[in-house]
Amino acid sequence: MIRPALTQDASRIAEIENAYIACTWGGAAIKAAIQNPDYIFFVYIAADILAGYGSLRMIGTEAEVNNIAVDKAFRKRGIANEILQSLLSAAKSAGADTFFLEVSVQNAAAIGLYQKHGFKQIAVRKDYYAKGEDAAVMKLSV
Ligand SMILES: CC(C)(COP(=O)(O)OP(=O)(O)OC[C@H]1O[C@@H](n2cnc3c(N)ncnc32)[C@H](O)[C@@H]1OP(=O)(O)O)[C@@H](O)C(=O)NCCC(=O)NCCS
Repeated sequence: MIRPALTQDASRIAEIENAYIACTWGGAAIKAAIQNPDYIFFVYIAADILAGYGSLRMIGTEAEVNNIAVDKAFRKRGIANEILQSLLSAAKSAGADTFFLEVSVQNAAAIGLYQKHGFKQIAVRKDYYAKGEDAAVMKLSV
């Protein structure tokens, strides 16, 4: 089940983030994003467990997808797919017509997910991540 994130979800989201994401926000920034009306922030609940989350920021008619992550125990069953679909739909309803994101060029799973939803690579940002990894900049126009 997908629902909007609540501030009390922040610590569990931070736990998932710490385990899997290279550039972490941390609990305070997550809480601030959940409370910020410019952000659309969803969580996926599976059997009462917060199994994954995703967020994006609205900037006029553009939206920047921040992070999508799913706990390893819950992967490969379509959860990220549902989270991204929900984010895109909510952002479109809020007036977004163009989506951007950055993802490590080495993150085949995430690139596959974004391509499946129509994102195309438009640029590469060299040394974007702390460990010197390049980022693919991806764009979707709807
Ligand atoms: C990327 C991630 C969110 C995918 O979560 P998931 O719930 O397992 O993904 P889904 O089951 O919904 O799969 C959706 C699509 O993603 C792609 N995908 C998922 N895992 C993949 C993998 N290991 N290799 C290649 N493509 C993959 C596929 O296109 C898949 O569609 P398909 O099942 O029709 O092939 C998950 O691997 C994750 O949390 N990774 C760590 C965090 C991260 O890197 N986030 C993205 C950058 S911010």
